[in-house]
Amino acid sequence: MAATPPAARPARVRQVCTECGAVAPKWQGRCPTCGEWNSLVEEPEPRPVTRSQPAAAAVAATLVGDVPAGSLTWLATGIGECDRVLGGGFVPGGLVLLGGDPGIGKSTLALQLAGHCGSEARPSLYCAGEESAAQVAMRAGRLRCDGREVAVVAETDLDAVLATVESLRPPLAVVDSVQTLHDAGQPGTPGSIAQVRGAVHRLLLCAKQTGVPILLIGHVTKDGAIAGPRTLEHMVDVVLYLEGERHGDHRLLRGVKNRFGASDELGVFVLDAGGMREEEAPGRAFLDETTLGVPGNVLTVACEGSRPLAVEVQALVAPTRFGLPRHTASGFDLGRLHLLAAVLEKRARILLGQADVFVNAVGGVRLAEPAADLAVALAVAASARELCPPPGSVVIGELGLGGEVRRVRRLEQRLQEARQLGLRTAVVPASQAGCAVPPGMRCIPVVHLGDALALLDEAAGPWPGMACTTVKKVATDPWRAP
Ligand SMILES: Nc1ncnc2c1ncn2[C@@H]1O[C@H](COP(=O)(O)OP(=O)(O)OP(=O)(O)O)[C@@H](O)[C@H]1O
Ligand SMILES: [Mg+2]
Repeated sequence: MAATPPAARPARVRQVCTECGAVAPKWQGRCPTCGEWNSLVEEPEPRPVTRSQPAAAAVAATLVGDVPAGSLTWLATGIGECDRVLGGGFVPGGLVLLGGDPGIGKSTLALQLAGHCGSEARPSLYCAGEESAAQVAMRAGRLRCDGREVAVVAETDLDAVLATVESLRPPLAVVDSVQTLHDAGQPGTPGSIAQVRGAVHRLLLCAKQTGVPILLIGHVTKDGAIAGPRTLEHMVDVVLYLEGERHGDHRLLRGVKNRFGASDELGVFVLDAGGMREEEAPGRAFLDETTLGVPGNVLTVACEGSRPLAVEVQALVAPTRFGLPRHTASGFDLGRLHLLAAVLEKRARILLGQADVFVNAVGGVRLAEPAADLAVALAVAASARELCPPPGSVVIGELGLGGEVRRVRRLEQRLQEARQLGLRTAVVPASQAGCAVPPGMRCIPVVHLGDALALLDEAAGPWPGMACTTVKKVATDPWRAP
């Protein structure tokens, strides 16, 4: 009887953390280095490197003052909202990472950018790893690109992509997506940590050597972070996220890191069949005047980078049905909502222990800054008490744990935006009462959450049809504009 061949030895594997990239000795539920849960994944051990050459000699270091400082040049994309977020456009040799949920419009925006940056004489390069060249051409037709400004390759081999960039030297190269690239010199399958990290490192070298700006598209995890090791965001020059409500029209391009400009700028787009269109009035894009004047709806002006955005905060407080009260937040940090609910209970005696609390920032916008605290707290209190602030008022302020209203940045800019939108009354932190107020607008300074709630009680009438016992009629209406 013929002997059966010995079974192939299984490849040695190791456990690598997707968050911090650390290698763990064995699989564990929690990374021993960064403490993240469920972040360890298995990947093949890299082959040991044998050093045959002697160690490199030290290199000469130059004093910073003696280094000739080059000047940065930005290649404007021609899409104003993108230029705003990028700090003026693409920088030669810059590596830009664009992340976002599936189907949010990453490829659409990247193709439009490629079309704007390229010309018939010098087309941009679009490396499609997820779609065929025909699919990209179909999208270009829908976006009304004339097809002569972008050259496409459907390629996932990293060496081929790098060679194409080096030979064509396009004004912009797009790689869609970094998770589909395969580097034959690295262990693992496309999308694995070693592959993604290795690919980005080689693309970085290519961008710096050729001076070609490269736009990388990246998948995101279910938590919304770019899939792959966290170090990826450190390696690239610019990190952008495309956000928005999947079923809504608006898309937000948010800068979270930028080595060449301000890192927290925001671009506002409308996505339709013709692609991404710049929003004409971004300040009021998330405002639906028809829903103002409903209990629990409060208007605030958020500041994203240098851009003020009027946002409607909606809250609903309802008796809990299942014994355990729930807090749900959309467009607002849930941890912050728990904190504000505790502040409302402890400092303003608004009892929420038997209530479910839902908070929503309308239009898919994400309220990330604490300046929205007072508006969210007021919205929750207003819903609990069935009161509504009068239309035409805006609420701005950060809340401390003691219920004190703290100062916010760029208050004057926010007030100007509110006035431009026709609003006439603003509740602001008392510590900033001396700020310049636009003509026709009145500011009501508040020291404590209780002051703001008192205004709500004094100014708001009962909602038609609702029993409301907390409303006091007062002779002077503090909300009335001068
Ligand atoms: N024919 C069409 N008409 C209108 N809108 C369309 C059409 N085709 C696609 N879209 C819109 O474009 C969106 C998809 O855009 P795109 O392919 O750029 O997303 P993506 O972020 O690259 O997705 P993925 O992560 O799957 O690559 C769809 O969600 C849809 O809203
Ligand atoms: Mg895509």
